[in-house]
Amino acid sequence: MPAVISTVWGKTDMARRVHIIGAGAIAHHHADAARLLGLPFAACDPGASALEAFAAAFPEARTYADVDAMLANARDGDIAVVAVPPKLHVAMAQKAFAAGLHVVCEKPVVRDGAELDELTGAACAADRRLVDASVRFTGLPSQERARALLNEGVVGTPYLVRMVNRRNRARPGVEYQPTSRWFINRDAAGGGVLMDWGVYDLTQLFHVLRPVAAEVLCATAKSVQTGADPEDVAIEVESHVAATLRLTLPGDEAVDFIYERANGCHGPELSELTVEGNRGALAWQWLPPYPEGAITVDLWRDDAGKMIRETETLPMGAHPHFHHVPLHAMHDALEGGAQDRVDLSRIAFNFAVIQAIYRTAESGRPTQVALTPGGAG
Ligand SMILES: NC(=O)c1ccc[n+]([C@@H]2O[C@H](COP(=O)([O-])OP(=O)(O)OC[C@H]3O[C@@H](n4cnc5c(N)ncnc54)[C@H](O)[C@@H]3O)[C@@H](O)[C@H]2O)c1
Repeated sequence: MPAVISTVWGKTDMARRVHIIGAGAIAHHHADAARLLGLPFAACDPGASALEAFAAAFPEARTYADVDAMLANARDGDIAVVAVPPKLHVAMAQKAFAAGLHVVCEKPVVRDGAELDELTGAACAADRRLVDASVRFTGLPSQERARALLNEGVVGTPYLVRMVNRRNRARPGVEYQPTSRWFINRDAAGGGVLMDWGVYDLTQLFHVLRPVAAEVLCATAKSVQTGADPEDVAIEVESHVAATLRLTLPGDEAVDFIYERANGCHGPELSELTVEGNRGALAWQWLPPYPEGAITVDLWRDDAGKMIRETETLPMGAHPHFHHVPLHAMHDALEGGAQDRVDLSRIAFNFAVIQAIYRTAESGRPTQVALTPGGAG
């Protein structure tokens, strides 16, 4: 296969370009996002079938078998999207930073704390921006409204957050995308449902609450057995995680956080997100589908001794499709828009809390994490 199998960019084209490393399932969504933003884009993948499928879906894209060949054609200030399995995230991001590119890195952004230091260190050394694709479900009108309501004190003093998302049979590499077996390999994926969905859960919750510290008080991370488990390869990652944390909010309030996420479990399926305060409770929708382009925020409060529930329905407006959010967040930040999703200290804090849940599940002892404003962790 030739290094370049489709279109050639015009020499006079000054638009920022997007270089997608890995042309598998998620790369197609990033390509859609680049297309909608009107940015020229390329992809590379050593896997011939993935690359050919990408080229067929996006005939306007340049395609390469090799990442170095693609980056050799990139310009300082372009955007790289790292869309390979997590084991390769740091190495690919380092190549992109070294070539002068800003990096949107798929989630989980890294596999452990040492890799996090390497990744954020590379971003700082290159003076380039990083978006962790865990922001995929952030920036929703419901979250911005919930944040405003909490700041206005509509629930009084918050004291408890409960976030539960339990699915019975939704393990990537098994029931979902079964050909991508790397999802169930610990070395390749870094972990199971906590790495796959936990990073979204915490990123979206912390986008609203903005905690400055967290202590994981107790945690469990387990894998269940099912008749659908593959026979040819072992499942090395957890399918069910539960933890109790104490969050410290920016005003120094302590809030207990009961958290659970499963993509494989035997009990009932549940989905809930509630923030309880002494004068009310709040819930906001953040998971798709968003029927009829609208999204809701629910407020429960006391009215003369009676409980009332008020549902506010907000238009989605120009909010991008969730799969397009990571590239949009980077593009906005580079164009002078919101910078909160390229904040390295927040990226580092969110991931450190994920790691702290694993550590407490393993050791049985509490683990503390603090935000380091202006720093990377
Ligand atoms: N599939 C999803 O629904 C989904 C959703 C959100 C995030 N993600 C994340 O996106 C990333 C990729 O997942 P995916 O589902 O697209 O996986 P995938 O298995 O469909 O694709 C990964 C691709 O990376 C390619 N690759 C491997 N080594 C490479 C290299 N050296 N250079 C370039 N390409 C290389 C593989 O050939 C493969 O085509 C992961 O971090 C995953 O967690 C996936």
